[in-house]
Amino acid sequence: MVERSGSQDESSLVKDLRRDLECANLQLRRYAEDIVQLYRSERKNRVNLEESQAQMTRYAEDLVRMYQIDSQKKNEIQDTNVQLRLYARDLSSIISNLRLANQNLKKAYQDTVLRLAMAAEFRDLDTGDHIVRIGRYCALLAEKAGLDKVFAELILYASPMHDLGKIGIPDSILLKNGALTQSEKVIMRAHPTIGARILGGSDSEILQMAHEIALTHHEQWDGNGYPYGLAGKDIPIAGRIAAIVDVFDALTSRRPYKEPFSVDESVRIMTTEMPTHFDPDLLQTFVAHVNEFVLIREAVEAEQIENVSRDSLFGKIADLKE
Ligand SMILES: [Fe+2]
Ligand SMILES: [Fe+2]
Repeated sequence: MVERSGSQDESSLVKDLRRDLECANLQLRRYAEDIVQLYRSERKNRVNLEESQAQMTRYAEDLVRMYQIDSQKKNEIQDTNVQLRLYARDLSSIISNLRLANQNLKKAYQDTVLRLAMAAEFRDLDTGDHIVRIGRYCALLAEKAGLDKVFAELILYASPMHDLGKIGIPDSILLKNGALTQSEKVIMRAHPTIGARILGGSDSEILQMAHEIALTHHEQWDGNGYPYGLAGKDIPIAGRIAAIVDVFDALTSRRPYKEPFSVDESVRIMTTEMPTHFDPDLLQTFVAHVNEFVLIREAVEAEQIENVSRDSLFGKIADLKE
């Protein structure tokens, strides 16, 4: 500020002062406006900040909710898993019970079938070993001939019933100690058809095969057998198999009217004296493996336990004398 003298100076001073004051006022107003501006901006920022905070809070709440839903779902899935595991355990226990019941039923069925065959066999043979051997011989020959395991298992259980029809033959003929007369032979030769009548008409695969074997185990490859004189492959293969092992077992066994033949002698008789009786391929297979059939015979003999009980073809069964 310039220093002046007198009234002019005073007036000038006042003017200067006023101008300075106006300047200051102006400056103050600018400050005030700036402050107002700042305040507004600040307020706006605060509003923005609050909005951001609110938005963040909403996000956080959404996340919490999502997490809760997620963990609820996880719990539900875990519960479902536990439930499913329980169902699976129950199901597996039901299945194993059913399997056990089925096995027991199968076993009971097989034992019944065996006892039925034994009932016929005990009348003319001292022991039921013949039918046990026949079952195992048939299964072995079926396997050696390339037939499948299902067939081998069926023939194992079915073939012991081959002579079931002997139930219908009178003791005077069945147990006769000596040669049969012609008319007695005719009656004896009815046992295949009697057996077939007993076994026929069943839904069981075992009994169906048993029926087939009972009917055809005395048929011969050359057509000279009975009851129908079937020849070659007109004879069912189960009957052709049973025919070979039945004759082999009869030759190698003791009978009231004969001593057992040796294995070699039995094979010689079958291959040289009666070769046309049998399916030549099956006979060749049988002869090639005859040692294994002898092992079966020895195994069945070893399984006898003093007429009280024994391991049968079908597993442990009680002897009929129990
Ligand atoms: Fe027979
Ligand atoms: Fe027999």
